[in-house]
Amino acid sequence: METIAQLHLDAFKITLRDIGEIDVAQLHALSVAVGWPHRDSDWRVLLDLGQGIAAVDEIGRVVGTVMWQRYGAGFTMVGMLITSPRLQEHGAGRWLMERAHELNPGSAFGLTATHAARRLYRSMGYGHEQKILQCQGQAVGSPPPVRVEGTVRAMRAEDRESLLSLDRAATGCDRSAVFRRILPVSKGQVLVRNDEVVAFALCRRFGRERVIGPVIASVQEDAIAVCQPFVEHHAGSFLRVDTPASHTAFVDFIVASGMQIYDSVTSMGLGRAPYAPLDPHGPRRMALASQALG
Ligand SMILES: CC(C)(COP(=O)(O)OP(=O)(O)OC[C@H]1O[C@@H](n2cnc3c(N)ncnc32)[C@H](O)[C@@H]1OP(=O)(O)O)[C@@H](O)C(=O)NCCC(=O)NCCS
Repeated sequence: METIAQLHLDAFKITLRDIGEIDVAQLHALSVAVGWPHRDSDWRVLLDLGQGIAAVDEIGRVVGTVMWQRYGAGFTMVGMLITSPRLQEHGAGRWLMERAHELNPGSAFGLTATHAARRLYRSMGYGHEQKILQCQGQAVGSPPPVRVEGTVRAMRAEDRESLLSLDRAATGCDRSAVFRRILPVSKGQVLVRNDEVVAFALCRRFGRERVIGPVIASVQEDAIAVCQPFVEHHAGSFLRVDTPASHTAFVDFIVASGMQIYDSVTSMGLGRAPYAPLDPHGPRRMALASQALG
C-alpha cells in the first residue's frame, strides 16, 4: 500500500501538573483507555484523599497520572499509575514514579502492581511481594453459613473507633483519612464477640457495581461471617473482592458465592512491607479497600 502521510508519535513533549487542577472527565477517559472500571466518583474519592500529578501533552490532553496517599508519618501508598496506551514503553511510567518518590522524601512506599507494572516496580527496588486475587462476578448468594462464636450485626456509628483500631492492627498504618471518606458511603457488618468488635467488612459502590472491602479479621472464618450478609443481600448483582491469595478458605467462599478469579495483582513495598500486622495472630487484611488504597 502506498504511504500518503507519516506522523511521529514518539516525539511527545509532556509537562507535569497538579492532578487536583485536572478535570475529572479527563482522568476518567485515561483510566477507561487502559480498561479500568473506575467511575468519575471513584476518581473523586481518590482526589479528595490524596495528591498526585498528571502528565499533560502540548495540547492539554492528560497522558499519564500517578497518585499517592500518606498513611501516617513515613508511609505513602502509591496508586493510579497510568500512561496513555499510545505513550507506553517510552519511559513515562518510570518518570512519573520517580517524581512521586521525589515528592515524598524519606518515606517508605506501598502499592498494588498490575502485571504490566510489576517489572518496573521491581527495577525500582520494590519487594515484599504478596499475591492478591481480584475476584468478581454476579453473586449467587452465600454458601451455607460458617459457624463462628459471637454475633454478626450491621455497623453502627459508635463502631468507628473499633474499626480504626482493627485496621491499624492489621496494616500497621494510620488509614483514618480513608475511613473518614469511605465510611459515609459504605454499609458495614461487624462481628461482636465478648462485647468487642473483632472483625468487620465494608461494602460500597465502586467500578462496575460494588466492592466488598476493606475486610479485617484475625481468622478467615470471621472474615467469611462478616461478608456473608453482603453476598446474600446482593445476590444477582455484580460484586468484587480483592483478597490475598494465601487466604484460601476465604477465596473458596468468594468463589462459591459467584465471584470468579478474574485477575491477580501484587502488593509490593519499598523500604518496608506495605502492610505489616502488629501481631502475627491478630487482625489482618482479608480484603483490600481497593487496589489503589490497599
Ligand atoms: C504500567 C504502565 C504505567 C507502564 O507505563 P510505561 O509508560 O509503559 O512505563 P515505561 O515506559 O517507563 O516502562 C517501564 C518499564 O516497564 C516495562 N514495561 C512497560 N510495559 C510493559 C508491559 N506491558 N509488560 C512488561 N513490561 C513492560 C518497560 O519495558 C520498562 O522496563 P525497562 O525500564 O526495564 O525497559 C502502563 O503500561 C500502563 O498504564 N498500564 C495500564 C495501567 C496499569 O497497569 N498501571 C499500573 C498500576 S500498578
